[in-house]
Amino acid sequence: MSENGSNALWGSRFDGGPADSLAALSRSVHFDWRLAQYDIKGTLAHIKALHAAGYLTVAEHQKLEKSLEELSRRVAEGSFTAKPSDEDVHSALERGLIEIAGAELGGKVRAGRSRNDQIATLIRTYLLDQSNVIEELVLDLINVLVDRAEENLGVAMPGRTHFQHAQPVMLSHHLLAHAWPLQRDIERMREWRKRASLSPYGAGALAGSTLGLDPNLVALELGLTGPTQNSMDATASRDVVAEFEFILTLIGINLSRFSEEIIIWASAEFDYIKLSDSFSTGSSIMPQKKNPDIAELARGKSGRLIGNLTGLLATLKGLPLSYNRDLQEDKEPVFDSVDTLTVLMPAFTGMVATLVFNKNRLELLAPAGFSLATDVAEWLVKQKVPFRDAHEITGKLVSFCEKNSLQLHEVADADMAAISPKLTPEVRDVLSVSGSIRARAGAGGTALPRVLEQITALRKFSVKR
Ligand code: ARG
Repeated sequence: MSENGSNALWGSRFDGGPADSLAALSRSVHFDWRLAQYDIKGTLAHIKALHAAGYLTVAEHQKLEKSLEELSRRVAEGSFTAKPSDEDVHSALERGLIEIAGAELGGKVRAGRSRNDQIATLIRTYLLDQSNVIEELVLDLINVLVDRAEENLGVAMPGRTHFQHAQPVMLSHHLLAHAWPLQRDIERMREWRKRASLSPYGAGALAGSTLGLDPNLVALELGLTGPTQNSMDATASRDVVAEFEFILTLIGINLSRFSEEIIIWASAEFDYIKLSDSFSTGSSIMPQKKNPDIAELARGKSGRLIGNLTGLLATLKGLPLSYNRDLQEDKEPVFDSVDTLTVLMPAFTGMVATLVFNKNRLELLAPAGFSLATDVAEWLVKQKVPFRDAHEITGKLVSFCEKNSLQLHEVADADMAAISPKLTPEVRDVLSVSGSIRARAGAGGTALPRVLEQITALRKFSVKR
């Protein structure tokens, strides 16, 4: 406690303690307490640097190390917690360390660092750990999508553009189309880790430290690759947090897009899928209801993730160099984004793993809406008809079908010939869903060999490390 009755890490130049209203506003310990173990690890690295530079004797260093280990244990078991009078996690832990190591030795630790370089480091080490958790969860979903694609090989379904029937595709191809964006999200996360893995420790409040502490030593102790290059940038920037939140938001958006389809597919009108009882909910008033709540929550939570990201960006906009207290506002949103995805992903993956496809219906609808018309046009091109004419001839064929309530393959040879002499009976070879899919064997197409290639590639990618 300082003379003004507060245990803030500042105060000697102030005549009175902080007003209660200021203390209430300033306080962050109720949310930054989750960084406590990261702060202790940072302090362990810092005392090593203090010792190496000659500011702590071997005995002092050892005693502090033991004390910090004891503090870590007390924090983990909950016997040491933050008090309302602690301003933030740093103040609370200094109080805890002094309780164990005594005021004299505990009071030496703060030399050569500021809460500004401290917090900038902690948030990185915390997010790096969380990025591993989220990567695992995303890999689980990719693996489930690949499993479902493999188990449904050969099933055709309507492929859509503008939400209208366009061309038949393989269900597996569609499922994998949801896996690839997630694969890229993981690649983004891995790229981000390189930028996040630099240590701001040593930047001090803004200009660096005079004590000659080794920032490399601290970085390596923390499992980071090295120190940041500019102390002002290190303490003032939060692009590392913003980029992380962007990746989480994009994951949320990718889940949300898939969710929209799942919600539609589960409706009576579509009837493409049945959700497992374990991953759907009922209605309190309508006994017959089975609701796709997981997909709806995923869709809803993507809005929340976007809010967290844009909130941080708005906080950063217009901040002059270097540290400003506004930066404290980075934490709650990013913690919320982490919590949101960590609770959402397992439920979402479970829903995808257990939903049942109505294969007969998917196959039945695959050719609906004249979805083989492009195949007719491209067949004509192979017969040397210019595509412009091929498009027009096929359009006439579709119009004839519509007027006579026929499917493309049901048109008689004579009627075809009347539309165009180029439409010979051989065109029937391409008028099947399986033929259409087989023919789309170009790079990234829906043909079986291309789908199998994707399965192999994604399996290789998603092996857990
Ligand atoms: N709670 C602060 C934050 O999150 C820690 C750094 C405080 N620095 C300061 N100069 N008051 O940004």
